[in-house]
Amino acid sequence: MPEYKRIVILSGAGLSAESGLSTFRDKDGIWAKHKIEDVATPEAFARDPERVLEFYNTRRKGAAGVKPNAAHEALARLEREHPGDVLTVTQNIDPLHEMAGTQRLIHMHGEILKKLCNHCGAREPWENDLSTVLACGTCEKKGGLRPDVVWFGEMPYQMEEISRALGACDLFLSIGTSGTVYPAAGFVMEARNAGAHTVELNLEPSEGASMFAQAVHGPATKVVPAFVDGLL
Ligand code: APR
Repeated sequence: MPEYKRIVILSGAGLSAESGLSTFRDKDGIWAKHKIEDVATPEAFARDPERVLEFYNTRRKGAAGVKPNAAHEALARLEREHPGDVLTVTQNIDPLHEMAGTQRLIHMHGEILKKLCNHCGAREPWENDLSTVLACGTCEKKGGLRPDVVWFGEMPYQMEEISRALGACDLFLSIGTSGTVYPAAGFVMEARNAGAHTVELNLEPSEGASMFAQAVHGPATKVVPAFVDGLL
């Protein structure tokens, strides 16, 4: 394989599936059990905050007990050992990339183990339940605390930095994502326009499969370590 200099990795829920976390759109996924408009939009939070907070309290508890899998470990090794620049952009709100040792990481959809105050904007690590009766540790107001997670209709985090990296990369890896949610689903085109080689590593062809120059299908814990070995 050629020596790549600037690698951008995009990860999705499929990367964490083998760590025991549900994906969204698989048959038994999260959106098979909950409606997005009831639990993952600013309107849902305004309409019924306790229901939204309860949905994320359950997911926060689930994220607390899980461990990174061989795919997370391989991506951390790639960042550690590859001579080029490696940036990991994750759609996942779990802490598994950082637990595996990845350092240059952007959580574009936020993090389940952080809370955000709608009143004052304070962001803090938070591992317990959230409720409307909790007061913000900064402004002391109640009723504004939410998980620091990007909801549908909100702008993902650090989009400028992500676009800059995509515009300069020579290898783009998309791992464990269905390619159904923008702007992440459009990253492959930005990378192709920059002349990067684009690879999809996924259990099965995603919605955007035809946009990738190369595809490797199979469970992440099998295909990602093998692909990383080929790069190092
Ligand atoms: N290994 C590799 N890929 C897998 C595995 C696995 N073990 N299990 C499932 N997959 C693949 C599925 O085939 C699917 O293509 O992972 C993908 C998961 O897709 P989604 O459930 O749609 O998750 P994701 O793409 O991360 O969703 C994007 O949508 O709901 C929003 O904010 C949420 O960040 C999420 C975004």
